[in-house]
Amino acid sequence: MAFLDNPLRTGLRMGRTPEPCTMVIFGASGDLTRRKLVPALYNLARERRLPAGFSVVGFARRDWTDESFRELLCEAINTNSRSGPVDPELWASFAQGIYYHWGNFDDADAYRRLVERLAAIDRERGTGGNRVFYLATPPEAYPTIIAQLGTHGLARSSGWTRIIIEKPFGHDLTSAQALNAEVLSVFNEDQVYRIDHYLGKETVQNILIFRFANAIFEPIWHRSHIDHVQITVAETIGVEDRGGYYDTSGALRDMIQNHLMQLLCLVAMEPPSVYDADAVRDEKVKVLRAIRPIALHDTVRGQYGPGSANGRPVRGYREEKGVSPTSQTETYVALKLFIDNWRWAGVPFYLRSGKRLPRRVSEIAIQFKAAPTMIFADTPLNDLEPNVLAMKIQPDEGISLKFSSKVPGQPQIRPVTMDFRYGASFGVTSPEAYERLLLDCMLGDGTLFTRRDEVEASWTLLTPILRAWAEGPPLPFPNYEAGSWGPVEADEFIARDGRSWRRL
Ligand code: BG6
Repeated sequence: MAFLDNPLRTGLRMGRTPEPCTMVIFGASGDLTRRKLVPALYNLARERRLPAGFSVVGFARRDWTDESFRELLCEAINTNSRSGPVDPELWASFAQGIYYHWGNFDDADAYRRLVERLAAIDRERGTGGNRVFYLATPPEAYPTIIAQLGTHGLARSSGWTRIIIEKPFGHDLTSAQALNAEVLSVFNEDQVYRIDHYLGKETVQNILIFRFANAIFEPIWHRSHIDHVQITVAETIGVEDRGGYYDTSGALRDMIQNHLMQLLCLVAMEPPSVYDADAVRDEKVKVLRAIRPIALHDTVRGQYGPGSANGRPVRGYREEKGVSPTSQTETYVALKLFIDNWRWAGVPFYLRSGKRLPRRVSEIAIQFKAAPTMIFADTPLNDLEPNVLAMKIQPDEGISLKFSSKVPGQPQIRPVTMDFRYGASFGVTSPEAYERLLLDCMLGDGTLFTRRDEVEASWTLLTPILRAWAEGPPLPFPNYEAGSWGPVEADEFIARDGRSWRRL
């Protein structure tokens, strides 16, 4: 194996293995199970990270059997796994622990049968009453499933029981609070794992390592050295086949409320005193609560019209399947916010995210203040570019630092970069976010999941914007062409502050 020769990998320890358990996936016939969950579980099995006897029960409404479900999952792994086609020997043993459970989510009898089935699996496969329930259904089904789990005594067992809840976690503050109340009437908070897959990305986890395992960055991570921060999550894809869902959501709910706010918290939080679930999440919540209410004039919305993607013509958002032809749903958002605390007072954070942009790129850029004076006569201060530390979340995962350098043989200064790339340094492909998150849940580690107060603090901040947008006059959508960098208003918006978006 090539990576064994890589000096950066010597001495790495494999993590802990969870106790034997069963994962029940509600909505097992859906896209998420096929594209993400089962390939992630398979790759964990491949890397021997799963416990002996690990079992999966797929719960859905389709009239399938264990056998047909297994076949479908095998195909799903062949298509979607980062490790390529299934290894027949490994699959044979993995598939033995996969079961299909037919039932409607509101059918009490299906849950009674589930109780029996889980007990049988415990006996046959030694899973000790340990369970993870995964809600991978449309969100409308969450309350029904949660209530049924409670009624049938499935929230408690002879072992441990945990529940993973997919996004969206509510569509505004009131609905998020209601969902929290429902889930917490059946489960305790420490049993609840609200997933945000961005937190499972290696590069996102590395933000904390970069900040807190290196001594040189923290002293300058401060308003006295930082001019502003830009967080970009740009996608080339449109809404694909999710138009129906997306048209009731939009970029603020779909991306900003969860993924970008999580990135912001990790960049801005204070060092926790220990690295554990509550200490880390306490610090993140403090950031969210310190954010000043976002002014409406500090937001820009966009919606893509027809244009191109990867050199091919593509239709506009309003022509996508499931989308209203007069839709006012935003597919692009840019906003500015301030964190009113000692570290960040006065430093603007610019966030932007959109679909059908020219490149798929997620990046956090810390732009430092310019050098205070210029002692090199041939280069005016204005020509000097400030230092930028860019954390590249995806693709081309890495970290780069821009600084000024002398041009050889000439009395001039030009910006250059110092680059770190994960791929080149470690020589392995990063695991998928879901691998890490599923494993952490089985291990009972909630650090990379969002806590109740966190999710509510984020909605508290963004719900007034959603309300104001809904009450305001309709916008002349579409206002950016597919394949462009979003509406011109977004450029004008940041230009008013004498700044510009990074060219990515
Ligand atoms: C999901 C959103 O949460 O994240 C999608 O619902 C989006 O609309 C996706 O495309 C982006 O995730 P990633 O990992 O591809 O950046």
